[in-house]
Amino acid sequence: MQPLKLGIIGAGFIGTFHARALMQVRNMEIAGITSRTKSRAQALSKMVKKNGLGDGVVYSNITEMVNHVDVIAIYAPNFVRVEMVEEIVDAVKNGANLKGVICEKPLARNMKEARRIVEAVKGVGLKTAYFENQIFMKPIQTQLQQLAPQQKTMGPLMLTRSAEEHGGPHEPWFWDPTKQGGGVLSDMGCHSIAVGWYLLNPIGKPETFMQPISVSADCALLKWGLPEWREKLLKERGVDYTKTPAEDFTTGVITYKNPETGQIAKAQFTNSWMFEKQGLRLFMDGMGPGYAFEINTLNSSLEIFIGDAAAEVVADAETALEKSTASRGLLAVQYNEPDLYGYTDENEDAAKAFLAGKDASLSWDYGLEITRLVMAAYMSSERQKTIDLTDTRIQEELETFVPLIQQGKGADILYTN
Ligand SMILES: NC(=O)c1ccc[n+]([C@@H]2O[C@H](COP(=O)([O-])OP(=O)(O)OC[C@H]3O[C@@H](n4cnc5c(N)ncnc54)[C@H](O)[C@@H]3O)[C@@H](O)[C@H]2O)c1
Repeated sequence: MQPLKLGIIGAGFIGTFHARALMQVRNMEIAGITSRTKSRAQALSKMVKKNGLGDGVVYSNITEMVNHVDVIAIYAPNFVRVEMVEEIVDAVKNGANLKGVICEKPLARNMKEARRIVEAVKGVGLKTAYFENQIFMKPIQTQLQQLAPQQKTMGPLMLTRSAEEHGGPHEPWFWDPTKQGGGVLSDMGCHSIAVGWYLLNPIGKPETFMQPISVSADCALLKWGLPEWREKLLKERGVDYTKTPAEDFTTGVITYKNPETGQIAKAQFTNSWMFEKQGLRLFMDGMGPGYAFEINTLNSSLEIFIGDAAAEVVADAETALEKSTASRGLLAVQYNEPDLYGYTDENEDAAKAFLAGKDASLSWDYGLEITRLVMAAYMSSERQKTIDLTDTRIQEELETFVPLIQQGKGADILYTN
């Protein structure tokens, strides 16, 4: 079978990460690239060609690219999602023969935007993939296989704890809550909420089997609200956290109910942009009756040491670990990050599904459910109370809810001194 021809929108951080992942995937090649900054598109194209990942032709816009590819992947910033999906949908209406469309997390900044894009793609029958890489992580999938007999005899997991933390994003738009959708809850809470929920589903059940019944969450601005860090942010990222702050820490608990047995289970999430260790850390653990698992991506089988005298020769610490904060001392190195974080397997899954004319394992409908939980978490933090997801009034409210932080009114609820 011919590999799927992928067209990438956005040649930034994640577009490049996915290209690295595709070195390990056989059923998808990068046929086209379009990005707002042409030089970045050209740089990615060069990398694609050098590594034999496809023709990597640079196109000046989506409409120009769409007739030369089978699938479009949206790897551009959150604030251009709706317009991009509408451009793709228009192209399909005008005859483009697309097999599917991929969207990176978060699906959208709020439910209104999420519904709009989900309905738009359904209107033209486009198959979808929502990229939530953590569910595809090999440590996540392997513990499921290893503990399957325990799950079957003792019962499914009852408690999960998931965290994704680093020292703060790499591009200014992430820090602007009106563009990104909020702070760390919108940016990384979606990952931890998704993986926590996924793990609680008994083996063999769909990813939305466990019914979310309530959300209790808290958002705070801790490190990046301090005057010296605020100034650094303003100087380096052009974002003023005295005026439009966003949360750099969030934590919460989501309660789920098994619709068949009535069993209650809980998923706790914690995310921060104020993590002061070597770089990005994903942490997950789970407790079942009589068994457990734990994952910590800062534990690697490879550690290196760089003393002060040798530190000057280190050109780029990020080659060792995403969001690296140090270039000397004892360092953790992850030598296959695209695979560790699940990017390889989510691409393979999407390609297989689209080649078979189906949605990927995680469709945009699933992405919309994650958006709903993220919105409920913001609502809980704003109102300082537990949100009852079984209440029909709350369900309606969530459809149009835009968090104060996303509206640029975070100064009303977040502390800055
Ligand atoms: N799964 C993950 O762990 C993960 C990690 C990082 C980013 N992401 C998601 O991927 C998306 C992109 O993030 P990123 O880190 O790559 O951002 P980035 O800023 O590094 O790159 C975005 C790219 O999109 C391009 N772009 C901007 N506006 C555009 C437009 N109108 N048309 C075409 N191209 C445009 C930019 O020039 C840039 O090359 C975001 O939605 C983000 O949430 C996911």
